[in-house]
Amino acid sequence: MKILLLGANGQLGRALQHLWAGSEVTAWDMAELDITHLEPVRKAINQLQPHMVVNAAAYTRVDDAETDIEAAFRVNARGPRNLALATAERGIPLLHVSTDYVFDGKATRPYHEFDRPNPLSVYGRSKLAGEEAVRVGNPNHFIVRTAWLYHTFGKNFALTICGLGRKGEVQVVNDQFGSPTYAPHLAQAINRLLETKAYGTYHMAGGGGTSWYEFTCQLFKMVGIQSTVTPVNTTQFPRPAQRPSYAVLTTLQDPRILLPPWEQGVQAFAKERQG
Ligand SMILES: NC(=O)c1ccc[n+]([C@@H]2O[C@H](COP(=O)([O-])OP(=O)(O)OC[C@H]3O[C@@H](n4cnc5c(N)ncnc54)[C@H](OP(=O)(O)O)[C@@H]3O)[C@@H](O)[C@H]2O)c1
Repeated sequence: MKILLLGANGQLGRALQHLWAGSEVTAWDMAELDITHLEPVRKAINQLQPHMVVNAAAYTRVDDAETDIEAAFRVNARGPRNLALATAERGIPLLHVSTDYVFDGKATRPYHEFDRPNPLSVYGRSKLAGEEAVRVGNPNHFIVRTAWLYHTFGKNFALTICGLGRKGEVQVVNDQFGSPTYAPHLAQAINRLLETKAYGTYHMAGGGGTSWYEFTCQLFKMVGIQSTVTPVNTTQFPRPAQRPSYAVLTTLQDPRILLPPWEQGVQAFAKERQG
């Protein structure tokens, strides 16, 4: 299968590239194709004629998005809309990646695919607009919502907190809950989904849920960082964008494609960093 992968240099993009090494994949990032411009997107897809387009490109700076609103919507809403139009014109399926931040966090049980989104932030709203554009633009779509994504490179919480932990004590919020997701585990799940032709919306995140505090404790334990981790409340760490306080994801979809429990993601992350 000939795949066009966009956002190829990001955390997920690189995990997918690694998984698909040796396959027929065109892996592009911003420098090769800016997804916010329709005509270049159309031209690229018409020339390459892939069997599948996978969009891992996004504006992911959640706090910056609060003031950089147009850029967030250009990349996260107009970008996927362009891809949906260009792929639909040629009957090509599109897999697009979205986020747990489309939810408001008021649930008292894990969110499934049929729960109603209600984003709290500009980032969440822009990602929801992207989902909607994909649903309208191309019926042959997969929308994969993931959460708390991390890898052994790039910019993510796991690397940041490990860096801080090596220098000394850290304070981490204990009243926000989610599903830490190791990017290579997500890549494997996406790979399985692509084979199904069962188009629709899917939740794919590390199994189970936890707080940032417990995630940090587990990271330090697995990576071998001795520093003290102190639990604190979100109010002690005000940030520009509001996050859902509870955004654990689960799936009700068929096929039910599950990722390993989040603790196994941490284990794999620690092993990869040692290797
Ligand atoms: N990170 C998380 O915690 C998280 C949580 C839930 C969902 N997600 C979703 O998961 C997906 C993958 O996230 P990620 O963490 O792998 O993202 P990432 O590491 O930030 O990578 C995104 C990539 O997209 C590129 N990009 C930005 N604007 C573009 C444009 N206009 N055209 C083409 N490429 C562009 C970026 O390039 P530059 O670096 O040059 O901007 C970057 O290489 C995204 O849809 C994200 O919303 C992420």
